[in-house]
Amino acid sequence: MTFRILQLSDPHLLSEPDALHRAVPVYRSFRHVIRHLEEQGPGFDRVILTGDLAHDEKRETYELLRRTLVEKFLNFRIIPGNHDSRDFMRQVFPEICGTGRDRVNFSVEAAGWKLVGLDSHLPGSVSGRVGRRQLEWLRQELDASPGAPTVLFIHHPPVPVGCPWLDRIGLEDAEHLRLVVAEAPQVQLVLCGHVHHEFRGRLGEAEVLAAPSTAIQFLPRGESPVFDPIPPGARILELDGSRWRTRVVRLPELIWVPDRDA
Ligand SMILES: [Fe+2]
Ligand SMILES: [Fe+2]
Repeated sequence: MTFRILQLSDPHLLSEPDALHRAVPVYRSFRHVIRHLEEQGPGFDRVILTGDLAHDEKRETYELLRRTLVEKFLNFRIIPGNHDSRDFMRQVFPEICGTGRDRVNFSVEAAGWKLVGLDSHLPGSVSGRVGRRQLEWLRQELDASPGAPTVLFIHHPPVPVGCPWLDRIGLEDAEHLRLVVAEAPQVQLVLCGHVHHEFRGRLGEAEVLAAPSTAIQFLPRGESPVFDPIPPGARILELDGSRWRTRVVRLPELIWVPDRDA
C-alpha cells in the first residue's frame, strides 16, 4: 500500500490572510496549492512543511497556519526555516514541536520508513546550521534503525544548488551532515526547501530534492534573486515498500505575478 506524503515549503505566510508579499497573497496561494494537490489523487497520509512558514515571524501567523492545517489534515509535521520563530512554533504547535529541546525536529516511523526532520534555523542568519548536538542526535536516530529506509527533511539544502547568491546562504555545516549521512546508507532522500525552485542533487548515496515555494519562485540561476514567473506548487512523495517516487505539482497557471525585484 502506497504511503503518500505532501511536502509544502516556503509559504512565507503573513498574519493577515489577505496580506500581500511582493504583490502575492501568500495565504491564498498556500490554500490554492493545497487544494490543487489534494485533487491529484487519494488523500495524504502525512504532510510535512519544510520551513519559512511565517515571513513576519509573528505568533498570529503560526495560529493562522495551525487553523489551516488542522482543518485540512490529520497528521502534519513542521520544521523551521530561516524565516521562523522556534518559540512561537513551540507555543502554537506544542504537541509536535516539543517544549524542552533546543531544536524543533522530529523522528517518526511510517510504512516501514523513518522520517526525520532537522532544524537548520540559525537565529539572526539567513544561512543555516544543523549544529553539533543535533548531528549527534541524528547519528543516534540513524544508528537505531539501520534497516529502515530513511528520508531527511531540512530547510537548507545540504549541497550547493549552483546558484551563487543562494549558495552563499546555504547550510554552513553541510560537510558535517554529509559525514553522518555517509555512514547511513539507509538515507535515501533529503527533501529541502529554501531555494524556491526545483532542484536535484546528491549527498553521498542519498538524492537531494528541493521543492518549490507555495508562494513565489526564484530563477534557478543568476547572481542575484530574480522572481521566476511560473506557478507555485508542492512535492508529492510516495513510499511503496522499499521504493519511492516523487514529483512536483504546480498550479495550472500563474495567478499572482510577484513584483519584479526580489
Ligand atoms: Fe523561503
Ligand atoms: Fe529560507
